[in-house]
Amino acid sequence: MQVESTPSVVREIVRTARRDRAVVGVVPTMGALHAGHVSLIERARTECDFVVATIFVNPTQFGPNEDFSKYPRTMEQDLEMCKNADADLVFTPDTSQMYTADAETVVKVTQLTSRLEGAVRPTHFDGVTTVVAKLFNITDPDKAFFGQKDFQQQLVIRRMVADLDWGIEIVTCPIVREADGLAMSSRNRYLSAEERQRSLVLSQSLQLGKKLALETAATPAEIERQMQDLILATDGVVLDYAVVLSADSLLPLQNRPDSAVALVAARLGATRLIDNQILQFR
Ligand code: PAJ
Repeated sequence: MQVESTPSVVREIVRTARRDRAVVGVVPTMGALHAGHVSLIERARTECDFVVATIFVNPTQFGPNEDFSKYPRTMEQDLEMCKNADADLVFTPDTSQMYTADAETVVKVTQLTSRLEGAVRPTHFDGVTTVVAKLFNITDPDKAFFGQKDFQQQLVIRRMVADLDWGIEIVTCPIVREADGLAMSSRNRYLSAEERQRSLVLSQSLQLGKKLALETAATPAEIERQMQDLILATDGVVLDYAVVLSADSLLPLQNRPDSAVALVAARLGATRLIDNQILQFR
């Protein structure tokens, strides 16, 4: 496995792989890797000849009061995990290699980013789309692998790729969870023992939503209300949103659709968690 931090060198390595007709896959991450990230690299391994993982804590997607400076950095372990998942190349730029002081270009998806995470974190998605566009340009992939965990993010990336005629296939991979249901996240390590226990209400609310959609005649609005009630009844959990929306557009649904996505976001102390689940309606 090669590890390289210079964009022009990465470009050259991928160009050489392409000369041998390799299908190139990229897995963008911010490091602090866990089994969720590893599942993306493993999926890329099954679908591609040359697998590039990227590790870059992207400053432009963090708001001024967010956790950029204390975001976990565990490079040595991360590289070990990439190696075990059989990545071919890990791109590990530092900030000065990704952003020059005179940079002034932003890639912006205008509508899909205005709701949910974008409403709570107004500059977040511009940072994500801009850095992912740069990572795509540096690594020139045929396929890129993202987690369903960040449901809105994968939709925003799909929108960007379609709108810019990029021709990269976006593969969305299932959410990897802890045994008790908590979706794996680099931020879970911030939780105290008590918060870790309380965090279970997020996945429990999604399970409730799934059951109500499948087994009752409840409408999306009624399901939302019951999910919200469950979360609001848990001490120490501050609800940002619990909603049931179109999985394509994230717009509200009338009546009962065939399927939808339930999305939740909540804060436990200083830690903000998100989770989601596709709902099938009976
Ligand atoms: P990061 O939070 O490190 O996540 C990298 C990728 O791993 C994302 O596609 C995310 O959805 C996926 N992922 C995280 N937890 C997961 C889980 N429990 N199961 C499955 N997949 C999971 O998302 C980012 O980084 C950044 O915004 C990035 C796209 C790298 C741009 O900076």
